[in-house]
Amino acid sequence: MKCRRCGRKAIEKLKAYGIALCSECYIGFYEELVERSIRRFRVIKRGERVLACISGGKDSSAMLGVLVALSERLGFEVEALHIDLGIKGYSDKSREISKKLCEMLGVEMNLVSLEEFGFTIDGVERRKVCSACGTVKRYLMNRYARLNGFSVIATGHTSEDVITFFFKNWLSGNFSWSEKFLPRTESFDEKIVTRIRPLYDRSEKENMLYVLCRKLPFLAESCPYAPQDEWKEIVYYIEGRKPGFKRNFVLNLAKYLLEREEKRKESYGYCKLCGEVTTSDVCAFCKLVEKYKK
Ligand code: AMP
Ligand code: FES
Ligand code: ZN
Repeated sequence: MKCRRCGRKAIEKLKAYGIALCSECYIGFYEELVERSIRRFRVIKRGERVLACISGGKDSSAMLGVLVALSERLGFEVEALHIDLGIKGYSDKSREISKKLCEMLGVEMNLVSLEEFGFTIDGVERRKVCSACGTVKRYLMNRYARLNGFSVIATGHTSEDVITFFFKNWLSGNFSWSEKFLPRTESFDEKIVTRIRPLYDRSEKENMLYVLCRKLPFLAESCPYAPQDEWKEIVYYIEGRKPGFKRNFVLNLAKYLLEREEKRKESYGYCKLCGEVTTSDVCAFCKLVEKYKK
């Protein structure tokens, strides 16, 4: 199997894109995909200060790597934030990997320890760990970003995260979530910092290949509290049968939500000919009348 771009030995065939690439060409390919999505969805604006939240895992390591690679051309600044959650046997390793990654990329690493606030994730009741952890991360990321003058908070959420989140919400009848499915969620209050998801339409496998090709450090083990996610397995199964499913799903979801938002904002008025409701001067019916009236 040869690389489509340079003809050297390919490392992987990317079924969703129908091409095989070598490790060097893959790095460029991945960065082009992320850049294209950042431009398409206006994920980061020129001059913004991005706080990239890194856990030490492959997805956020890939995110920091690609943001640093694109920062000069797209005109933004990046610093990293790691939150030490105080999980025995796991948080120490996550923190050290995050430090190593930042050193390698020449990025400033900011560190916040949950312990400073008087408790750790290990101290939370077992049943409530994951939701408490989510609350802790959202709160500390937002507060840190605001107090230190960052314009946006970036997380390493992937297409699998967006799709599984969508399924879970949809099936539990919760429809008040739409902004979480978008690559950029604008702040709605001065105390809330805008959130971005630059890997919104990347898959975990694409991120893994990128960190491996660039030899970026990452922690392979997952958090000891992480539940087995059956939805993710289902999403992988569909992707296996229908390559490209994940990417098409999230891109169309974003397109749908953004169009819906535009339509909602569009002001409507009344037709100047008949007085019925319309979004233009003359309603569609009156236009037909004008055109076809004998
Ligand atoms: P998770 O909620 O573990 O799926 O993580 C989602 C995203 O939150 C990751 O991609 C990171 O960007 C961020 N994140 C998770 N854990 C941490 C952490 N300990 N410190 C900073 N950011 C984190
Ligand atoms: Fe929060 Fe595992 S990282 S519970
Ligand atoms: Zn190549």
